[in-house]
Amino acid sequence: MLELSDIQSSPEELQDYYAQLQAQHVTPAWIGGGISIEPRSEAVPYLWHWRDLRPQAMRAAELVGTQQAERRVLRLTNPKLPGIASNTLVANIQIVMPGEIARAHRHSAAALRLIIEGRGGYTVVNGERVPMFPGDLVLTPNWTWHDHANDTDAPMIWLDGLDTPLVRMLEAGFYEEYDRERQDCGAAVNASQWHYPMSEMQAALERLTAANTRGAGEGIILEYKNRLTGGPVMPTIACHMQLLRPGEKTRARRHICCTNYHVVEGAGYSTVGDQRLDWEDKDVFTVPTWTFYEHVNCGDRPAFLFSFSDAPVMKALSLYREETRA
Ligand SMILES: [Fe+2]
Repeated sequence: MLELSDIQSSPEELQDYYAQLQAQHVTPAWIGGGISIEPRSEAVPYLWHWRDLRPQAMRAAELVGTQQAERRVLRLTNPKLPGIASNTLVANIQIVMPGEIARAHRHSAAALRLIIEGRGGYTVVNGERVPMFPGDLVLTPNWTWHDHANDTDAPMIWLDGLDTPLVRMLEAGFYEEYDRERQDCGAAVNASQWHYPMSEMQAALERLTAANTRGAGEGIILEYKNRLTGGPVMPTIACHMQLLRPGEKTRARRHICCTNYHVVEGAGYSTVGDQRLDWEDKDVFTVPTWTFYEHVNCGDRPAFLFSFSDAPVMKALSLYREETRA
């Protein structure tokens, strides 16, 4: 009987064998791919400053009309990923100028907007008019019709978050244009299932602050809940708002999920892996999966950090883990 240790093959035999496999589109698994004992993200921690983004959004509005771009969007690009901020989720800056309409469409990617600038523009979601004010979260879930309009006399700018890289990877992307530029809609609906006003979120966080609630080294953090299911706002995306009191520092944690942050207001820094990201009002930063991060509010006012992550995907697939650094 042939013992394993007796196997002798010449480099020529192996080379010939591998060449045959390659011609047959077969890859021997024992060469090339190493086994990793834990995830190591391709993405790197990165921060985009509002002071850089805003002028470029305004410049885009000068250079590119809504006829040329159905959505006038600047996609924040992780230095190590192709045109996307994080592995499964994009983070974009979108601008709609006074009098403009971003025409109606729908897609199987789920989207959220966190309003940065402008008061009183609106998104129509499945025929329901949702007003947009700074800090508001507006959802356009998978396959809902949506168009945006700005009837005000100032630019509307917001952060878009979408799961398009995930949907693309799953080869599940559908897209459809509405047969008209915009949907018919009724009057403003203030209790819409698509709308989470900042005024309500801020009041809730401040009530908890007044009660001096001490979280587990996380400042005070609230998750936005889907108004129908009580679960995450959308099947693929969870959203949180975190309040850090002046001087507060969170404990270092890491999770299996990628997370993008938007500083609604405040000044401080986050240590993400071996990077220090100094942030201030309206900046955006990304925390790759399984990377320790901690936030510090070094200002003299409360800091509000909005974040969105793909944690619901990881949880649904039993892949989610989290850890606090000892
Ligand atoms: Fe869209």
